[in-house]
Amino acid sequence: MKYNNQKDKESMKKLWKGRFTKATNSAVDEFNASITFDRRLYAEDILGSIAHAKMLAKQDIISQEDADKIQTALLEIKNDIEKGNIEFSIEAEDIHMNIETLLTEKIGDIGKKLHTARSRNDQVAVDFKLYIKDEIKSILNLTDNMLTVILQMAEKNIKTVMPGYTHLQRAQPVTLAFHLMAYYEMFERDRSRFSDCLKRADVMPLGSGALAGTSYNTDRIFLARELNFAEITPNAMDAVSDRDFAIEFCFCASTMIMHLSRFCEELILWNSKEFSFIEIDDSFATGSSIMPQKKNPDIAELIRGKTGRVYGDLFNLLTIMKGLPLAYNKDMQEDKPPVFDAADTIKNSVLIFTEMLSKIKVNEKNMKNAAKYGYMNATDAADYLVSKGVPFRECHEIIGKIVLDCIEKNCGIEDLSVDELKNYSDKFEEDIYENIDINACIEAKKSFGSTSQESVERHINSKSDK
Ligand code: ARG
Repeated sequence: MKYNNQKDKESMKKLWKGRFTKATNSAVDEFNASITFDRRLYAEDILGSIAHAKMLAKQDIISQEDADKIQTALLEIKNDIEKGNIEFSIEAEDIHMNIETLLTEKIGDIGKKLHTARSRNDQVAVDFKLYIKDEIKSILNLTDNMLTVILQMAEKNIKTVMPGYTHLQRAQPVTLAFHLMAYYEMFERDRSRFSDCLKRADVMPLGSGALAGTSYNTDRIFLARELNFAEITPNAMDAVSDRDFAIEFCFCASTMIMHLSRFCEELILWNSKEFSFIEIDDSFATGSSIMPQKKNPDIAELIRGKTGRVYGDLFNLLTIMKGLPLAYNKDMQEDKPPVFDAADTIKNSVLIFTEMLSKIKVNEKNMKNAAKYGYMNATDAADYLVSKGVPFRECHEIIGKIVLDCIEKNCGIEDLSVDELKNYSDKFEEDIYENIDINACIEAKKSFGSTSQESVERHINSKSDK
């Protein structure tokens, strides 16, 4: 082999150097390398390699002695990485080849046996699935904590009356507990979506080789047991080409942060002077550099803002995968940054949101006051006339006219006397008032899943029983 210059000699350190006679272009090493970001997979990579070495020994493909040496050396490398004693090299491209290079530096030719019956394609797929499985478990734990905080807040606010909105216009009175339990349902669906994603990430690709499987007598079931996977992939080509599990993960994160963003938007509105329904704790707000009076809900705004990043991560990944021919293509190396970003963002957002929510002060008085105005009992007034035998469409029109007149008089329906009400319909009697009282409007809701105290209590109890 002839070396043209120093750079060519360096290039010959590469694990795939055999077929090459020239060094890579000077910009290529850096462009091609993923070590700057996939170093995060070092623990998963070492875990996968130890399982692989054990399997090779069990199947007599390498000796038990060699497998033991490989395992000991890999654990030492892990320790060194965690202590910050390792400087990764761009030249070794990615975390997989960096670790293999370190291993060979440590134990020489024995280290070179590790990659028997394996390709980086099945190696990276298994590392990535191990990583995502772990992240999902953390997200599920964080979600459980958030659900507990929402439930506790709902329990405390079972009688807190507030306006319910459609089109952000006052619509019908509800309780804060009812409103909070709507979010509980959303986050519980997110939880179930992540658990479902976990099932599909739990299928082990290792042992698929580059794309076609391997001619060695390997034991993939043993590998799956060692690495704690529920199943093994049944088609090697799919196993190394599939990133559905990563896309699904980003979709689950996107949906969840969309829910968080809607909740944050409401907290921002409720925290404004105009609403004054809640107060966000000082420890979750910031001040202004110019306006001394300001206390801004930055944390809620930031979670709302970070939604854009997570959607971006999902689209990034979907676009990378679009149109890729089977099997592995280097495009797929770009799959890691969006997934890492989505995982970090959703974990941090759920964590900080939970803390912020647990410290929110509710202003029950202002909430109730807001529910008193805006003719939120108009539907109930119409229902009252229905109970007296008037067809609903007619009632709707009668109450509409009453509301129009009340707006002019600047009063509520309940402020009109029975005599005044009789001008619109002779069916009005003294009992109208107890039927259009705000609490009565809430308690009158009888359907399963409604805002009445009994219904919300049943909902909350069904969750705390779990
Ligand atoms: N760094 C690569 C990635 O993350 C590892 C797989 C490389 N495989 C290959 N055939 N070049 O996708």
